[in-house]
Amino acid sequence: MNEETLQSALSNPQNLGEMPDADAVGTVGSPDCGDMVRMWLKYKEKDGKKVIDKASFQSFGCQTAIAVASLATELIRGKTKEEALQMSAAELSAPLGALPPMKIHCGQMVEGALKAALEADSVTAPAPVSTPVNFGSPTLMDSLAAAGKSAGKIKIVLQE
Ligand code: FES
Repeated sequence: MNEETLQSALSNPQNLGEMPDADAVGTVGSPDCGDMVRMWLKYKEKDGKKVIDKASFQSFGCQTAIAVASLATELIRGKTKEEALQMSAAELSAPLGALPPMKIHCGQMVEGALKAALEADSVTAPAPVSTPVNFGSPTLMDSLAAAGKSAGKIKIVLQE
């Protein structure tokens, strides 16, 4: 893994934060580690095609997930939905070099969030999220679900 690229993505993450005027949002959680990534997409028309104008992300995850998400939001700019759907976790994290085996799921989580966002514009209502019994404090899933309701289009996918 390229430590220099990792550190520079971490010290200056690109496109970090919620996008209020997004066209779509997707969220994926990893049961492996309990981390989550949410990605927002905004489209525009270019040469008669709908392409990704910009993307942003929030990560409740490890440093690798943050770095891959930052790089991915740059890599997908200008791509059509079909082109972006073709991008694998390895392509999205390519600037970091090969991820060590225990970090492969971090890149896959970013790929999952991107795919969920790309597919979210066919989702008209947020999927109901079953809330486990909790004792007062909201879980991360609860707060994401609540934020998702205000954001409109949301799709929450738990990775295998
Ligand atoms: Fe879980 Fe990186 S350790 S996303």
